[in-house]
Amino acid sequence: MVILGIESSCDDTSAAVIRDGLLLSNVIASQDVHAEYGGVVPELASRAHQQNILPVVDTAIKRAGLTPADLSAIAFTRGPGLLGSLLVGTSFAKGMSLGLRIPIIDVNHLHGHVLSHFIRREEGDEIPTFPYLCLLVSGGNSQIILVRNYNDMKILGRTIDDAAGEAFDKCAKVMGLPYPGGPHIDRLAAEGDPKRFKFAKPHIPGLDYSFSGLKTSFLYTLRDNIKADPDFVEKNKADLAASLQATIIAILMDKLDKAVRETGVATVAIGGGVSANSGVRDVVAEYCRRRGLKAFIPPRLFTTDNAAMVAIAGYFKYLDKDFCPYDKAPYARVEV
Ligand code: KG4
Repeated sequence: MVILGIESSCDDTSAAVIRDGLLLSNVIASQDVHAEYGGVVPELASRAHQQNILPVVDTAIKRAGLTPADLSAIAFTRGPGLLGSLLVGTSFAKGMSLGLRIPIIDVNHLHGHVLSHFIRREEGDEIPTFPYLCLLVSGGNSQIILVRNYNDMKILGRTIDDAAGEAFDKCAKVMGLPYPGGPHIDRLAAEGDPKRFKFAKPHIPGLDYSFSGLKTSFLYTLRDNIKADPDFVEKNKADLAASLQATIIAILMDKLDKAVRETGVATVAIGGGVSANSGVRDVVAEYCRRRGLKAFIPPRLFTTDNAAMVAIAGYFKYLDKDFCPYDKAPYARVEV
């Protein structure tokens, strides 16, 4: 069974081919046009997808060593994401499926992130056993998800304001770092003292997250210190980054630990753009090692938006014969 996956929910155009759960190709065209605006410009993203989608899909099929006639189905991200961007991938998938007379499968982008641990690059690659907890942390989401089966997931906690990635990006922006700031904070944090600055941690009941208080306290720290020394940020950027990153990780781990104790799961996975963060990866791995839990830390390639995760999520829906009718439109917002 050969599934073509198409991802176009934000600013990466990606196509991947999976045969019986094994990854054959994964092509990603990232969009540089947004950097100068300090964030993704939806209309520019849609236009870039429009330009990229045909060559990206074509390359993915060729790199897999196949032709379109070999495909069994096309899986595409139907949401959540930017509507114009999603429309490009959705329309392309529909047109191609009509031409090839094969079914389409709609994939929830967040399911894709959660199921990215099932992408096997070689026979024998280890995959999680159910149930497991997935800490899904990206630019738009921070959720703790109980994954009971491929197509059966429950959100146990979510952010009530900013996502973890937004906390990284917004704080990085006020430090004058380029967008997206997460990877820059990660790099700077490696050379800084994580205990130098103290930022606010939230007190939210249950398993929900909040990052807006941290953001405000970070802003106030900068503002107060810049008054005394205009070069404060430049002189202290490594310590600021390290302290910010340590606080975000502490907030994430506090609720993840609570969720582990409440559910009694034996396996913990992480996913989403922020799971590329070196500190997050190390701390989750160490936490699991200490508690005797199995940890699934995705290869960095599968942390950000990619079509391999869409193809694998589509593969499991294919096994359930869960296909998508042609009248289904993309959606901007939805949860797992
Ligand atoms: O999953 P993703 O590619 O898409 C969105 O949900 O937008 O996540 C992007 C987010 C951004 O906020 C980016 O700053 C963050 O992931 N990110 C990181 C790192 N790499 C990407 N944050 C911290 N450290 C990193 N190394």
